[in-house]
Amino acid sequence: MNIDSYIVKESKDKVTTKPHVLPIYASSSFVFDNIEDSIDVFKGDKDAHKYSRYGNPTIDAVADKIAHMAVYGSDLEAFGLMTSSGMSAISIALTSFLKTGDQVLSQGNLYGGTTELLNKIISRSGVETIFTNLQDLNQVEDILKSNPKIKICYFETPANPTMACVDIEAITQLCRQYGVLSIADNTFCTPYLQQPLLLGTDIVIHSTTKYLNGHGNSIAGMIICKNPEHQKSLWTTLKLVGSTCNAWDAWLTNQGLKTLSLRMDRHSSNALALAKFLEQHGRVKQVNYNGLTSHPDHLIACKQMKDFGGMMSFEIDGSVQDGIDFMNKLEFCTLAPTLGDVDTLILHPASSSHLNVAKEIRERNGITDGLVRISVGIESIEDIINDIGAALDK
Ligand SMILES: Cc1ncc(COP(=O)(O)O)c(C=O)c1O
Repeated sequence: MNIDSYIVKESKDKVTTKPHVLPIYASSSFVFDNIEDSIDVFKGDKDAHKYSRYGNPTIDAVADKIAHMAVYGSDLEAFGLMTSSGMSAISIALTSFLKTGDQVLSQGNLYGGTTELLNKIISRSGVETIFTNLQDLNQVEDILKSNPKIKICYFETPANPTMACVDIEAITQLCRQYGVLSIADNTFCTPYLQQPLLLGTDIVIHSTTKYLNGHGNSIAGMIICKNPEHQKSLWTTLKLVGSTCNAWDAWLTNQGLKTLSLRMDRHSSNALALAKFLEQHGRVKQVNYNGLTSHPDHLIACKQMKDFGGMMSFEIDGSVQDGIDFMNKLEFCTLAPTLGDVDTLILHPASSSHLNVAKEIRERNGITDGLVRISVGIESIEDIINDIGAALDK
Protein backbone atom coordinates (compact mmCIF):
# COMPACT_ATOMS: atom_id res chain seq x y z
CA MET A 1 0.00 0.00 0.00
CA ASN A 2 1.44 3.41 -0.92
CA ILE A 3 1.32 6.32 1.49
CA ASP A 4 -1.55 8.17 -0.32
CA SER A 5 -3.97 5.26 -0.18
CA TYR A 6 -3.01 4.69 3.44
CA ILE A 7 -3.96 8.31 4.29
CA VAL A 8 -7.30 8.05 2.43
CA LYS A 9 -8.25 4.81 4.19
CA GLU A 10 -7.22 6.18 7.57
CA SER A 11 -9.21 9.39 7.23
CA LYS A 12 -12.26 7.57 5.81
CA ASP A 13 -12.47 5.46 8.96
CA LYS A 14 -12.24 8.51 11.19
CA VAL A 15 -14.97 10.63 9.59
CA THR A 16 -17.93 10.18 11.91
CA THR A 17 -19.63 13.59 11.99
CA LYS A 18 -21.18 15.86 9.36
CA PRO A 19 -19.38 19.16 8.69
CA HIS A 20 -21.29 22.36 9.44
CA VAL A 21 -19.94 24.08 6.32
CA LEU A 22 -20.14 22.63 2.81
CA PRO A 23 -16.86 20.78 2.17
CA ILE A 24 -14.75 21.53 -0.91
CA TYR A 25 -14.31 18.36 -2.95
CA ALA A 26 -10.95 19.06 -4.56
CA SER A 27 -11.01 15.79 -6.43
CA SER A 28 -10.98 15.30 -10.20
CA SER A 29 -12.56 11.86 -9.98
CA PHE A 30 -14.48 9.56 -7.62
CA VAL A 31 -13.77 6.02 -6.50
CA PHE A 32 -15.83 2.93 -7.32
CA ASP A 33 -16.26 0.29 -4.58
CA ASN A 34 -15.71 -2.51 -7.11
CA ILE A 35 -16.10 -3.20 -10.81
CA GLU A 36 -19.83 -4.05 -10.50
CA ASP A 37 -20.33 -0.61 -8.91
CA SER A 38 -18.51 1.00 -11.84
CA ILE A 39 -20.70 -0.90 -14.34
CA ASP A 40 -23.88 0.30 -12.56
CA VAL A 41 -22.67 3.90 -12.57
CA PHE A 42 -21.61 3.89 -16.24
CA LYS A 43 -24.85 2.14 -17.31
CA GLY A 44 -26.77 4.86 -15.49
CA ASP A 45 -28.43 2.36 -13.10
CA LYS A 46 -26.78 4.08 -10.14
CA ASP A 47 -26.58 7.83 -9.61
CA ALA A 48 -23.05 8.70 -8.50
CA HIS A 49 -20.24 11.13 -9.15
CA LYS A 50 -17.57 9.91 -11.57
CA TYR A 51 -15.47 12.81 -12.75
CA SER A 52 -15.62 16.47 -11.70
CA ARG A 53 -16.12 17.80 -15.24
CA TYR A 54 -19.46 15.91 -15.09
CA GLY A 55 -20.31 17.28 -11.64
CA ASN A 56 -18.99 17.18 -8.11
CA PRO A 57 -20.70 17.20 -4.68
CA THR A 58 -19.63 20.79 -3.91
CA ILE A 59 -20.65 22.20 -7.29
CA ASP A 60 -23.92 20.24 -7.39
CA ALA A 61 -24.93 21.32 -3.87
CA VAL A 62 -24.61 24.99 -4.85
CA ALA A 63 -26.31 24.49 -8.23
CA ASP A 64 -29.25 22.77 -6.49
CA LYS A 65 -29.53 25.57 -3.94
CA ILE A 66 -29.68 28.32 -6.61
CA ALA A 67 -32.16 26.27 -8.68
CA HIS A 68 -34.43 25.98 -5.63
CA MET A 69 -34.19 29.72 -5.08
CA ALA A 70 -35.24 30.33 -8.69
CA VAL A 71 -38.62 28.64 -8.11
CA TYR A 72 -38.91 29.31 -4.38
CA GLY A 73 -42.51 29.79 -3.23
CA SER A 74 -43.99 27.70 -6.08
CA ASP A 75 -44.64 23.99 -6.73
CA LEU A 76 -42.31 24.00 -9.73
CA GLU A 77 -39.19 21.88 -9.89
CA ALA A 78 -36.04 23.43 -11.34
CA PHE A 79 -32.69 22.01 -12.44
CA GLY A 80 -29.46 23.92 -12.09
CA LEU A 81 -26.02 23.66 -13.65
CA MET A 82 -23.02 25.68 -12.49
CA THR A 83 -20.64 26.91 -15.15
CA SER A 84 -17.16 28.44 -15.22
CA SER A 85 -18.48 32.00 -15.83
CA GLY A 86 -21.61 33.94 -16.69
CA MET A 87 -20.46 34.01 -20.33
CA SER A 88 -20.08 30.25 -20.30
CA ALA A 89 -23.66 29.91 -18.96
CA ILE A 90 -24.90 32.12 -21.83
CA SER A 91 -22.95 30.22 -24.52
CA ILE A 92 -24.06 26.82 -23.22
CA ALA A 93 -27.70 27.96 -22.99
CA LEU A 94 -27.65 29.29 -26.57
CA THR A 95 -25.62 26.58 -28.30
CA SER A 96 -27.60 23.73 -26.69
CA PHE A 97 -30.68 24.70 -28.72
CA LEU A 98 -29.38 26.31 -31.95
CA LYS A 99 -28.36 24.90 -35.32
CA THR A 100 -27.30 26.41 -38.65
CA GLY A 101 -30.06 28.49 -40.21
CA ASP A 102 -31.81 29.30 -36.91
CA GLN A 103 -32.34 32.85 -35.70
CA VAL A 104 -32.24 34.47 -32.26
CA LEU A 105 -34.38 37.45 -31.24
CA SER A 106 -32.83 39.82 -28.72
CA GLN A 107 -32.42 43.43 -27.59
CA GLY A 108 -29.77 46.04 -28.48
CA ASN A 109 -28.92 46.91 -24.87
CA LEU A 110 -27.62 43.49 -23.74
CA TYR A 111 -24.47 43.09 -21.64
CA GLY A 112 -21.67 43.88 -24.16
CA GLY A 113 -20.10 40.41 -23.92
CA THR A 114 -23.40 38.77 -24.88
CA THR A 115 -23.82 41.03 -27.92
CA GLU A 116 -20.26 40.16 -29.01
CA LEU A 117 -20.88 36.45 -28.43
CA LEU A 118 -23.95 36.57 -30.69
CA ASN A 119 -22.27 38.70 -33.38
CA LYS A 120 -18.79 37.17 -33.41
CA ILE A 121 -19.12 33.53 -32.29
CA ILE A 122 -22.71 32.26 -32.59
CA SER A 123 -22.97 33.90 -36.04
CA ARG A 124 -20.09 31.69 -37.29
CA SER A 125 -22.43 28.68 -37.10
CA GLY A 126 -24.83 30.41 -39.49
CA VAL A 127 -27.15 31.67 -36.74
CA GLU A 128 -28.37 35.23 -37.23
CA THR A 129 -29.51 37.47 -34.36
CA ILE A 130 -32.27 40.02 -34.86
CA PHE A 131 -31.83 42.88 -32.37
CA THR A 132 -34.98 44.83 -31.65
CA ASN A 133 -36.71 46.80 -28.93
CA LEU A 134 -38.27 44.01 -26.83
CA GLN A 135 -40.42 46.61 -25.06
CA ASP A 136 -42.43 47.10 -28.25
CA LEU A 137 -44.60 43.97 -28.01
CA ASN A 138 -46.50 44.62 -31.27
CA GLN A 139 -43.22 44.80 -33.13
CA VAL A 140 -41.97 41.66 -31.36
CA GLU A 141 -45.11 39.80 -32.44
CA ASP A 142 -44.71 41.00 -36.06
CA ILE A 143 -41.08 39.79 -36.07
CA LEU A 144 -42.00 36.40 -34.57
CA LYS A 145 -44.85 36.00 -37.07
CA SER A 146 -42.68 36.74 -40.10
CA ASN A 147 -39.51 34.89 -38.99
CA PRO A 148 -40.31 31.23 -38.28
CA LYS A 149 -36.58 30.53 -38.04
CA ILE A 150 -36.41 32.32 -34.68
CA LYS A 151 -35.80 29.57 -32.13
CA ILE A 152 -34.71 31.59 -29.09
CA CYS A 153 -35.73 34.90 -27.60
CA TYR A 154 -32.90 36.05 -25.32
CA PHE A 155 -33.45 38.98 -22.96
CA GLU A 156 -31.95 40.78 -20.00
CA THR A 157 -33.98 42.82 -17.52
CA PRO A 158 -33.24 45.37 -16.16
CA ALA A 159 -30.53 46.24 -18.68
CA ASN A 160 -27.54 48.53 -18.75
CA PRO A 161 -27.18 51.48 -18.73
CA THR A 162 -30.71 52.90 -18.49
CA MET A 163 -32.21 50.04 -16.43
CA ALA A 164 -34.79 49.49 -19.19
CA CYS A 165 -37.08 46.54 -18.33
CA VAL A 166 -38.58 43.83 -20.51
CA ASP A 167 -42.08 42.72 -19.47
CA ILE A 168 -41.16 39.09 -18.73
CA GLU A 169 -44.69 37.70 -18.58
CA ALA A 170 -45.77 39.37 -21.82
CA ILE A 171 -42.66 38.43 -23.79
CA THR A 172 -42.64 34.80 -22.66
CA GLN A 173 -46.35 34.49 -23.49
CA LEU A 174 -45.55 35.60 -27.06
CA CYS A 175 -42.64 33.13 -27.15
CA ARG A 176 -44.93 30.26 -26.14
CA GLN A 177 -47.50 31.29 -28.77
CA TYR A 178 -44.85 31.13 -31.52
CA GLY A 179 -42.98 28.05 -30.20
CA VAL A 180 -39.85 30.04 -29.30
CA LEU A 181 -37.61 29.17 -26.32
CA SER A 182 -37.22 32.06 -23.88
CA ILE A 183 -33.93 32.67 -22.05
CA ALA A 184 -33.49 35.44 -19.45
CA ASP A 185 -30.32 36.88 -17.94
CA ASN A 186 -31.33 37.54 -14.31
CA THR A 187 -27.88 38.64 -13.12
CA PHE A 188 -28.85 42.13 -11.88
CA CYS A 189 -31.79 40.90 -9.78
CA THR A 190 -30.88 37.41 -8.52
CA PRO A 191 -33.79 35.02 -7.72
CA TYR A 192 -34.35 36.97 -4.48
CA LEU A 193 -35.67 39.99 -6.39
CA GLN A 194 -37.02 38.44 -9.60
CA GLN A 195 -38.07 34.92 -10.62
CA PRO A 196 -38.41 34.75 -14.42
CA LEU A 197 -39.12 30.97 -14.34
CA LEU A 198 -42.34 31.69 -12.39
CA LEU A 199 -43.34 34.25 -15.02
CA GLY A 200 -43.13 31.74 -17.87
CA THR A 201 -39.47 31.91 -18.93
CA ASP A 202 -37.99 28.55 -20.02
CA ILE A 203 -34.36 29.09 -19.01
CA VAL A 204 -32.62 31.58 -16.73
CA ILE A 205 -28.91 32.33 -16.63
CA HIS A 206 -26.83 34.22 -14.07
CA SER A 207 -23.35 35.52 -13.78
CA THR A 208 -22.92 34.38 -10.15
CA THR A 209 -19.71 36.45 -10.23
CA LYS A 210 -21.97 39.41 -9.38
CA TYR A 211 -24.68 39.55 -6.67
CA LEU A 212 -25.03 35.82 -5.96
CA ASN A 213 -21.41 35.69 -4.80
CA GLY A 214 -21.47 39.34 -3.76
CA HIS A 215 -17.86 39.61 -2.61
CA GLY A 216 -15.98 39.83 -5.90
CA ASN A 217 -13.85 36.76 -5.24
CA SER A 218 -15.00 34.19 -7.84
CA ILE A 219 -16.01 33.94 -11.49
CA ALA A 220 -18.87 31.51 -12.16
CA GLY A 221 -22.29 31.18 -13.78
CA MET A 222 -25.60 29.34 -13.49
CA ILE A 223 -28.16 27.91 -15.90
CA ILE A 224 -31.57 27.00 -14.50
CA CYS A 225 -34.47 25.35 -16.34
CA LYS A 226 -37.76 23.62 -15.56
CA ASN A 227 -38.01 21.07 -18.37
CA PRO A 228 -36.01 17.83 -17.81
CA GLU A 229 -35.46 17.57 -21.59
CA HIS A 230 -33.87 21.03 -21.60
CA GLN A 231 -31.74 19.99 -18.65
CA LYS A 232 -30.48 16.93 -20.57
CA SER A 233 -29.50 19.03 -23.61
CA LEU A 234 -27.81 21.65 -21.43
CA TRP A 235 -25.89 19.07 -19.43
CA THR A 236 -24.69 17.24 -22.56
CA THR A 237 -23.35 20.51 -24.02
CA LEU A 238 -21.78 21.58 -20.73
CA LYS A 239 -19.96 18.34 -20.04
CA LEU A 240 -18.65 18.09 -23.62
CA VAL A 241 -17.60 21.73 -23.94
CA GLY A 242 -16.07 21.31 -20.50
CA SER A 243 -16.86 24.73 -19.04
CA THR A 244 -18.08 23.33 -15.73
CA CYS A 245 -17.55 25.35 -12.56
CA ASN A 246 -14.81 24.30 -10.14
CA ALA A 247 -15.37 23.34 -6.50
CA TRP A 248 -13.53 26.34 -5.03
CA ASP A 249 -15.52 28.96 -6.97
CA ALA A 250 -18.76 27.07 -6.20
CA TRP A 251 -17.84 27.11 -2.50
CA LEU A 252 -17.11 30.86 -2.55
CA THR A 253 -20.47 31.43 -4.24
CA ASN A 254 -22.15 29.40 -1.50
CA GLN A 255 -20.58 31.61 1.16
CA GLY A 256 -22.11 34.62 -0.56
CA LEU A 257 -25.55 32.99 -0.87
CA LYS A 258 -25.85 32.83 2.92
CA THR A 259 -26.22 36.64 3.12
CA LEU A 260 -28.00 37.22 -0.20
CA SER A 261 -31.32 38.44 1.20
CA LEU A 262 -29.63 40.80 3.69
CA ARG A 263 -27.35 42.18 1.02
CA MET A 264 -30.08 42.65 -1.62
CA ASP A 265 -32.32 44.48 0.87
CA ARG A 266 -29.47 46.82 1.77
CA HIS A 267 -28.36 47.29 -1.88
CA SER A 268 -31.97 48.25 -2.69
CA SER A 269 -32.49 50.70 0.19
CA ASN A 270 -29.07 52.34 -0.36
CA ALA A 271 -29.67 52.65 -4.11
CA LEU A 272 -33.09 54.26 -3.62
CA ALA A 273 -31.66 56.79 -1.16
CA LEU A 274 -28.77 57.62 -3.52
CA ALA A 275 -31.12 57.90 -6.52
CA LYS A 276 -33.31 60.38 -4.61
CA PHE A 277 -30.23 62.40 -3.61
CA LEU A 278 -28.93 62.50 -7.19
CA GLU A 279 -32.34 63.36 -8.63
CA GLN A 280 -32.30 66.70 -6.78
CA HIS A 281 -28.62 67.52 -7.45
CA GLY A 282 -28.05 70.52 -9.75
CA ARG A 283 -25.24 68.87 -11.81
CA VAL A 284 -27.26 65.73 -12.56
CA LYS A 285 -29.27 65.71 -15.78
CA GLN A 286 -30.91 62.32 -15.43
CA VAL A 287 -31.09 59.41 -12.94
CA ASN A 288 -31.91 55.90 -14.18
CA TYR A 289 -33.17 53.79 -11.28
CA ASN A 290 -36.17 51.46 -11.45
CA GLY A 291 -37.27 52.43 -7.94
CA LEU A 292 -37.91 56.08 -8.90
CA THR A 293 -41.47 56.81 -10.02
CA SER A 294 -39.87 58.99 -12.73
CA HIS A 295 -38.27 55.90 -14.37
CA PRO A 296 -40.18 55.02 -17.56
CA ASP A 297 -40.28 51.31 -16.59
CA HIS A 298 -41.12 51.80 -12.91
CA LEU A 299 -44.49 50.05 -13.31
CA ILE A 300 -43.05 47.03 -15.17
CA ALA A 301 -40.37 46.78 -12.47
CA CYS A 302 -43.06 46.92 -9.72
CA LYS A 303 -44.92 44.09 -11.46
CA GLN A 304 -41.99 41.67 -11.65
CA MET A 305 -39.37 42.71 -9.10
CA LYS A 306 -39.70 42.36 -5.34
CA ASP A 307 -37.46 45.42 -4.86
CA PHE A 308 -35.31 47.46 -7.25
CA GLY A 309 -31.78 46.24 -6.50
CA GLY A 310 -28.45 48.07 -6.44
CA MET A 311 -27.87 48.99 -10.09
CA MET A 312 -28.38 52.51 -11.39
CA SER A 313 -26.85 55.09 -13.67
CA PHE A 314 -26.92 58.85 -13.81
CA GLU A 315 -25.88 61.51 -16.24
CA ILE A 316 -23.60 64.37 -15.25
CA ASP A 317 -24.52 67.49 -17.21
CA GLY A 318 -21.21 67.90 -19.06
CA SER A 319 -18.46 66.45 -21.25
CA VAL A 320 -16.38 63.25 -21.14
CA GLN A 321 -13.77 65.29 -19.22
CA ASP A 322 -16.41 66.25 -16.62
CA GLY A 323 -17.11 62.55 -16.17
CA ILE A 324 -13.37 61.82 -15.79
CA ASP A 325 -12.95 64.67 -13.28
CA PHE A 326 -15.87 63.33 -11.21
CA MET A 327 -14.37 59.82 -11.14
CA ASN A 328 -10.94 61.13 -10.08
CA LYS A 329 -12.43 63.02 -7.15
CA LEU A 330 -14.07 59.95 -5.58
CA GLU A 331 -12.33 58.79 -2.42
CA PHE A 332 -14.63 56.20 -0.83
CA CYS A 333 -16.28 54.48 -3.82
CA THR A 334 -14.25 52.00 -5.89
CA LEU A 335 -13.51 52.44 -9.60
CA ALA A 336 -13.93 48.93 -11.01
CA PRO A 337 -15.44 47.33 -14.12
CA THR A 338 -17.66 44.85 -12.29
CA LEU A 339 -20.88 45.00 -10.27
CA GLY A 340 -22.84 43.30 -7.52
CA ASP A 341 -20.22 43.40 -4.77
CA VAL A 342 -20.70 44.60 -1.21
CA ASP A 343 -18.56 47.65 -2.09
CA THR A 344 -19.91 50.55 -4.13
CA LEU A 345 -18.41 50.19 -7.63
CA ILE A 346 -18.45 53.02 -10.15
CA LEU A 347 -17.81 53.00 -13.89
CA HIS A 348 -17.68 55.87 -16.40
CA PRO A 349 -18.29 53.96 -19.65
CA ALA A 350 -17.17 56.77 -22.02
CA SER A 351 -13.64 56.68 -20.51
CA SER A 352 -13.45 52.92 -19.83
CA SER A 353 -15.62 50.08 -21.21
CA HIS A 354 -16.74 52.20 -24.21
CA LEU A 355 -13.52 54.17 -24.74
CA ASN A 356 -13.02 52.61 -28.18
CA VAL A 357 -16.66 52.79 -29.27
CA ALA A 358 -17.56 55.67 -31.61
CA LYS A 359 -19.53 58.43 -29.86
CA GLU A 360 -22.59 58.09 -32.18
CA ILE A 361 -22.73 54.31 -31.58
CA ARG A 362 -22.41 54.53 -27.79
CA GLU A 363 -24.96 57.38 -27.63
CA ARG A 364 -27.42 55.26 -29.63
CA ASN A 365 -27.25 52.79 -26.71
CA GLY A 366 -27.78 55.52 -24.09
CA ILE A 367 -24.09 55.85 -23.17
CA THR A 368 -23.62 59.61 -23.17
CA ASP A 369 -20.40 61.52 -22.33
CA GLY A 370 -21.36 62.11 -18.70
CA LEU A 371 -23.08 58.79 -17.96
CA VAL A 372 -21.87 57.07 -14.78
CA ARG A 373 -22.91 53.52 -13.77
CA ILE A 374 -23.09 52.69 -10.08
CA SER A 375 -23.38 49.33 -8.42
CA VAL A 376 -24.47 50.65 -5.03
CA GLY A 377 -22.87 48.70 -2.20
CA ILE A 378 -24.00 47.89 1.32
CA GLU A 379 -21.79 50.40 3.16
CA SER A 380 -23.28 53.20 5.27
CA ILE A 381 -25.44 55.29 2.91
CA GLU A 382 -24.04 58.49 4.46
CA ASP A 383 -20.51 57.51 3.33
CA ILE A 384 -21.70 56.77 -0.22
CA ILE A 385 -23.74 59.98 -0.56
CA ASN A 386 -21.03 62.15 1.02
CA ASP A 387 -18.38 60.81 -1.38
CA ILE A 388 -20.50 61.14 -4.54
CA GLY A 389 -21.90 64.49 -3.43
CA ALA A 390 -18.41 65.88 -2.70
CA ALA A 391 -17.05 64.65 -6.07
CA LEU A 392 -19.96 66.36 -7.87
CA ASP A 393 -19.50 69.61 -5.91
CA LYS A 394 -15.69 69.99 -6.05
C1 LIG B 1 -25.70 41.13 -17.05
C2 LIG B 1 -24.46 40.31 -17.22
N1 LIG B 1 -24.57 39.07 -17.73
C3 LIG B 1 -23.48 38.28 -17.91
C4 LIG B 1 -22.21 38.72 -17.60
C5 LIG B 1 -21.02 37.82 -17.82
O1 LIG B 1 -20.60 37.29 -16.60
P1 LIG B 1 -19.11 36.75 -16.30
O2 LIG B 1 -18.21 37.93 -16.24
O3 LIG B 1 -19.27 36.00 -15.01
O4 LIG B 1 -18.74 35.84 -17.44
C6 LIG B 1 -22.04 40.01 -17.07
C7 LIG B 1 -20.70 40.50 -16.74
O5 LIG B 1 -20.50 41.65 -16.40
C8 LIG B 1 -23.20 40.82 -16.88
O6 LIG B 1 -23.11 42.07 -16.39
